[in-house]
Amino acid sequence: MNTPSGDFPTSRRKSLMAFLVTAFVLQTFLVYSDDTGRLLPPLSEKALEGRAVWLSNNCQACHQFYGMGGFLGPDLTNAAARLDRARLDEVLTNGVAQMPAFHLSDTEISGIEAYLREMDGTGIGQARAPLPDLPAFRGAIRDAIDGGKMPAEASKGGEGFLSGACTGCHAALAPRRIGAYLAPDLSSAVNDLSDDEILTVLEVGRPALGMPPAGFSASQRGAMLAFLRWLAANRTQLQERTRGGDSEGIPWWEFR
Ligand code: HEC
Ligand code: HEC
Repeated sequence: MNTPSGDFPTSRRKSLMAFLVTAFVLQTFLVYSDDTGRLLPPLSEKALEGRAVWLSNNCQACHQFYGMGGFLGPDLTNAAARLDRARLDEVLTNGVAQMPAFHLSDTEISGIEAYLREMDGTGIGQARAPLPDLPAFRGAIRDAIDGGKMPAEASKGGEGFLSGACTGCHAALAPRRIGAYLAPDLSSAVNDLSDDEILTVLEVGRPALGMPPAGFSASQRGAMLAFLRWLAANRTQLQERTRGGDSEGIPWWEFR
């Protein structure tokens, strides 16, 4: 008989089968005896209420925990560490960017707050944030100023950007707000905010959210605005110059 298994003796098939069954049993045993999950304390009652609110409002359609969920909004595994109650109230009540306003009661918001706080305690959600090549980014700005490729007004702002602590907190050219950096990438600030809003942030900061007043004069603030416009207009070229950082970033199969 000429079956496909014709040249594969029955005894070899049997031992292969025995090996596969053993491997399966062993794997099953290891999976079910793994107590990593059990080392974490269970969610409190309050946090469980918050999770119910989370689920019934479909928050995970846009947000992730540990990278799992929808991708319109940021990963919230460690959001509790960067948000206070006032900001949470504001985000949930008024919405922000593409996030709609939710009409939640105070108790429901407290539940979400507890849920996010306890999730934050379970680990680091974004273990490997993309690492922008900061020196290359700063170098590209330096070269544009020195090489006369930046208009005079923007150059003044660029000097302020390089000498101020801006890049100490603000991520360079990140695809979006990333967990490891508290502050958003500024290369699209002029698209997200009006000129007045930017000038106000620079003047008074957002101290409660970690943005200090820049301590600039009115003309320095104007120059910074001109620089941020230049930054937005040259974003793509800058990204090409700083691509080196990408190879250190998360691999393509992981979500940004
Ligand atoms: C339609 C998509 C969408 C839904 C649904 C949604 N969000 Fe959001 N959410 C966003 C986006 C986009 C942002 C980021 C806005 C920005 O750029 O700051 C955001 C921001 C947030 C933030 C601030 C995060 C930070 O790090 O600043 C919190 C907290 C939050 N959402 C919680 C929730 C909760 C809780 C729910 C469910 C009740 C929810 N979101 C539902 C899209 C959504
Ligand atoms: C100590 C950290 C820190 C430093 C230094 C800092 N920022 Fe910020 N900045 C933040 C944080 C955090 C936010 C986001 C606040 C929020 O969530 O609304 C922010 C927000 C901003 C925004 C608004 C962006 C937006 O999309 O809402 C602008 C513009 C800005 N910063 C410009 C600057 C400039 C220019 C400098 C340097 C002169 C600077 N920042 C220095 C922390 C910092």
